[in-house]
Parts: sequence; C-alpha cells; structure tokens
Amino acid sequence: MELAATVQGVRQLVGDARARGLSIGLVPTMGFLHEGHAELIRRARADCGFVVVTIFVNPLQFGPREDLESYPRDLARDLQVAAVAGADVVFYPAVEEMYPPGFGTHVDVHGLGTVLCGASRPGHFGGVATVVAKLFNIVLPDRAYFGQKDYQQTVVLRRMVRDLAFDIEMVTVPTVRHEDGLAMSSRNAYLATAERRAATVLHDSLEMARHRILAGERDGAALAAAIRERMEGEPLARVDYVAVADPDTLAPVTRLEGTVLVALAAFVGRTRLIDNALIDVPARG
Ligand code: PAJ
Repeated sequence: MELAATVQGVRQLVGDARARGLSIGLVPTMGFLHEGHAELIRRARADCGFVVVTIFVNPLQFGPREDLESYPRDLARDLQVAAVAGADVVFYPAVEEMYPPGFGTHVDVHGLGTVLCGASRPGHFGGVATVVAKLFNIVLPDRAYFGQKDYQQTVVLRRMVRDLAFDIEMVTVPTVRHEDGLAMSSRNAYLATAERRAATVLHDSLEMARHRILAGERDGAALAAAIRERMEGEPLARVDYVAVADPDTLAPVTRLEGTVLVALAAFVGRTRLIDNALIDVPARG
C-alpha cells in the first residue's frame, strides 16, 4: 500500500493505475477506521482494480461548537486497517493541502441539506459536499463508496453528482453494527460505559418501528411519536430528531407505503449519535 499526503502525489499514483487499465474506487473517510469503513474498502476492493482511501478530518463540515478538535485520530492504526481491507493508496492530506490560503469555493446542495441532521448542524452538508467534490476532482474515481449509516449524506451527494454531472457511480453500503445493534461509528469512542449501554436505544427504536409497521401501523406521525416516546424512555439519551420520511426527498410522510426512511439522532451524554432504517411497508392483501 502506498501513502500520499499531497494532491500531486495521489494524482500521480492514480494516473499510473489508470494507465494500466485499472478502474478506480474511492472511499472517503475521516479516519479512526472501524469495521464499517473496512466494509466500504472491501466492497471497493471487490469491484475496482485500484482502491483509494482518503483520511481527512474536514474542518468545513464541523460547526463552531462541535468536536473538530477532539475528533479521534490514529493514523498508524488506520493505515493497518486500510491495508488489511485492501486499499492500494491512502491519501491523508493536511488541512492546508486541501484548503490553501485563499480557498473560497463552496458547494451547496439546496433543500436536502437543511432538514434532519442539516437542521441541527447548519452548514454541515455544504462542508461535506465541498470536500467530496474536491476529492472527486482529485481522484476522478469510477466508483465512490459511502455508508448507509449516514443516509442523508448519500442522498445529498447523489444529488450533487447528478446536478454537477460527475461521471461517478455512487455505491451505498449497508450499515455495519456491533452485536447489540449499535451502528459502528468513530464517535462511539466518546461513550462512557453506561452511555455505551444506553446507546442501543437508537437501534432498538428502529426495530420497534419495523415491528409496528409489520403490525399494521400506517400513520407516519403516530409512528414518529411512538419512536420518540421509546427513545425518551432512556434517561441517558436526549432526542435530537425522529423522522419518518420519503427516502428520496427526505420529506415527512403521513401515510406509510412503499419504502419509508426512519431516521434518528440523539445525544447520549454529550455524544451525538445517528441511525436509520429503510423499511418496506407491506401492501395490504
Ligand atoms: P466518516 O464518518 O469517517 O465515514 C466515512 C464513510 O464510512 C461514510 O461513507 C460513512 O457513511 C461510512 N460509515 C461510517 N460508519 C459506518 C457503518 N457503521 N457502516 C457502514 N458505513 C459506515 O462520513 C464521513 O466520514 C465524512 O462526512 C466524509 C464523507 C469522509 C466527508 O468528509
């Protein structure tokens, strides 16, 4: 596995691979890699001739009171995880490499970036779209891999790809979970023991939602209220939002049919966690 810290360096390596006729897969990350990231890398390895993993804690997507400074980092371990999962190159630029003095261009995906997580994290998805657009232009991948865990991110980025005509196939990989259902996340490292136990309330609430739909619930607002009540039953959790929404537009749905997105965010202690499920609503026979 090769390492690159500069735009020029990674372009050179990718250019050589392309000249050898290899297809290029890109897996953007902020590091502190876990099995969720590894799964994305393995998927890219299976599909592509050459796999680029990027590790960059992107300041543009953090709010002023968020965890940019304390975001967990462990480059040595990340390189091991990336190598074992099958990366050919890890690109880990410094902030000044991605955003040199005078950097002034911003990508905003209107509409989709201001609901759900975007409502509580203003500017977040603009920061994500901007860095991912730049990574796309640096690497020019054939395919790019993102996790369903950050469902709204996949919707925003797919819209960006369509709107700006990036010639890239977007692949969404199912959420990788711990045994008790908690979605893997770099931020789980912040959780104290009792909080870690309490954090399963997100996945448990999604399971409850699934069961209610199977049992015949078809009212979106009633389902959202039941989920909220379930989450509020966990004293260590504070609900940020509960959404029962259309998977494409992210707009709330009143009458449940087809496939619905149930998306949640909650603070467990001071750690903000998210999770979601796409649930097929059985047609009534
Ligand atoms: P990060 O949180 O490091 O996640 C990198 C990728 O791994 C994202 O596509 C995310 O959805 C995926 N991922 C995280 N946890 C996962 C899990 N449990 N199962 C499956 N996939 C998982 O998301 C970002 O970084 C950034 O916003 C980024 C896209 C890199 C732009 O800065």
